[in-house]
Amino acid sequence: KGLFTYDPGFVSTASCESNITYIDGGKGLLLHRGYPIEELAENADYLETCFLLLYGELPTAEQIEEFRSTITHHTMVHEQIHSFFHGFRRDSHPMAIMVAVVGALAAFYHDSLDITDPEHREITAHRLISKMPTIAAMVYKYTIGQPFAYPRNDLDYASNFLYMMFSNPCEEYQVNPVLAKAMDKIFILHADHEQNASTSTVRLTGSTGANPFACISSGIAALWGPAHGGANEAVLAMLEEIGHEDNIETFIEKAKDKDDPFRLMGFGHRVYKNYDPRAKVMKQHCDNVLAELGVRNDPLLRIATRLEKIALEDDYFVERKLFPNVDFYSGIILRAIGIPTSMFTVIFAIGRTPGWIAHWKELVEGKYRIGRPRQLYTGETQRPMPKR
Ligand code: CMC
Repeated sequence: KGLFTYDPGFVSTASCESNITYIDGGKGLLLHRGYPIEELAENADYLETCFLLLYGELPTAEQIEEFRSTITHHTMVHEQIHSFFHGFRRDSHPMAIMVAVVGALAAFYHDSLDITDPEHREITAHRLISKMPTIAAMVYKYTIGQPFAYPRNDLDYASNFLYMMFSNPCEEYQVNPVLAKAMDKIFILHADHEQNASTSTVRLTGSTGANPFACISSGIAALWGPAHGGANEAVLAMLEEIGHEDNIETFIEKAKDKDDPFRLMGFGHRVYKNYDPRAKVMKQHCDNVLAELGVRNDPLLRIATRLEKIALEDDYFVERKLFPNVDFYSGIILRAIGIPTSMFTVIFAIGRTPGWIAHWKELVEGKYRIGRPRQLYTGETQRPMPKR
């Protein structure tokens, strides 16, 4: 003891320098390359946000045209990947398949093995952003037993994703532009969040010089947990379980009970001790999307809004500065778009991909050492092996 700083959960340990994303948790401020998330969500689209995260500046008209064309060019996956899926049970959780298939891309793109070559790093970054929606939609199609839909490169990023999710060979499918716009905004709101658990995992894996597809796969695995990206799925399950506004108090009491492991899902954050700015945009967005879709009086939205109000007035949540986070309202929009609950965390993974890649690139393009935390050993002292 005394040799190392003991910081379980890395509450006060900075693991790197980074110039990508800034959070002031006290103020509820989130900046990507200096730009507030609210302004990006209002004025940029997802691919512009990806460009900003990867290259540090918003793209010019010419740059974004080229970037869109590059991303579109890589949307298909190797045909051999199709056979991969058939090894999985149809009732697999989509995130289990995501972890495996994204990691498996390393076996298809051998140029990703040499991360010292900037061109290889570049094409890997593009491939990941391009192929995540394709793989995600394939996962969904596989789990419901429908044929995979090939990407349509005449569609924008979000529309193409919805097309691959919901079209089938038997009928005409028109992407609803309102839903596509909603999807695009959801991707933006998830695009990066500095050293969260999954990004830190990507960096730690990357610090060994591992293959970038394997690094992103490790990030997807970390994201899956209900304390992180899995919370969006858990929020919807919780709202459904609450079922009626009259039951909210019971769940609030459960969340406060220290003998009960239940927590209010979509509430609280390690860094934000104020309203998560993404949650604010998401709530506004949720109201707009439901209005545009003509959904009036959505029962889950009613429960969520009431739950938020009660929690924000309760001493337990006030004292601990627990506010709704990004996951609190996203599920209600995703549900309105028609995305099944089991795919919610997959959507988060698509959105977070440019963040993971930007951090991986920042790591491997700078000076770095292998990430290797120390420990405080609490086990037996040295002892002789008994004679046997
Ligand atoms: N419901 C009830 N109590 C809570 C909650 C909650 N959602 N979140 C934190 N607390 C309490 C916790 O019990 C502790 O109380 P006490 O001081 O009396 O022991 C106090 O607040 C501090 O919590 P903590 O667990 O020390 O905080 P943390 O920074 O380690 O955990 C968190 C942050 C997000 C994991 C946690 O707030 C949580 O489990 N929230 C619910 C899951 C969730 O919504 N996760 C999504 C996070 S945002 C998106 C993302 O990153 O993916």
